[in-house]
Amino acid sequence: MTLYINCCAREESRTDRLARAVLQKLGGDFTELNLYEVNLKPLDKKTLNKRTALIEQGDYSDPIFDYAKQFASADTIVIAAPYWDLSFPATLKIYIENIYVTGIVSAYSESGMPVGLCKAKELYYVTTAGGPYDPTYSYGYVESLAKNFFGIPVTHLVKAEMLDIVGNDAEEILRRKIEKWA
Ligand SMILES: Cc1cc2nc3c(=O)[nH]c(=O)nc-3n(C[C@H](O)[C@H](O)[C@H](O)COP(=O)(O)O)c2cc1C
Repeated sequence: MTLYINCCAREESRTDRLARAVLQKLGGDFTELNLYEVNLKPLDKKTLNKRTALIEQGDYSDPIFDYAKQFASADTIVIAAPYWDLSFPATLKIYIENIYVTGIVSAYSESGMPVGLCKAKELYYVTTAGGPYDPTYSYGYVESLAKNFFGIPVTHLVKAEMLDIVGNDAEEILRRKIEKWA
């Protein structure tokens, strides 16, 4: 099962359009998780205490772990997130905060090294940017999490950039990118 993590807020999102071309190319069914519909909350004192206690007991039956389990069991992961403020929307960070559960997506070896527990072999990070795209605080961060902590060995960056530059034909740039995935 491919998991499509949709973090695109705009109705006519260009990032979502590009991601759907990637999903089509990957073929098969996918499960879509629209982060603006599920309304996850950042961890706070109460939820963090609850989560820590459950992890210490080794009890992962609570529904708060459902998204982490879904992430860990996906065969392929596609994340769509526009380039916001040199990074991605805070909504995606809240999702990561919620799914990064020790014992489900990652564990620590006896020597204290992180060991990934995710099934996925590949993760696609799809983004579009108004100006030039710098992956440091978005794709770079997700790539590091995937490879070093989640056990997902291969990550791909799919991007369309310079879309909001005056004089550029955003639709044409996007069309050419989408065409590559046709
Ligand atoms: C809140 C916000 C922050 C943005 N920050 C940046 C930015 O730092 N750099 C940039 O090049 N474009 C920035 N943009 C422009 C978007 O990256 C660009 O329009 C993108 O294609 C939007 O994707 P979407 O159509 O999927 O919503 C920003 C747009 C918004 C709404």
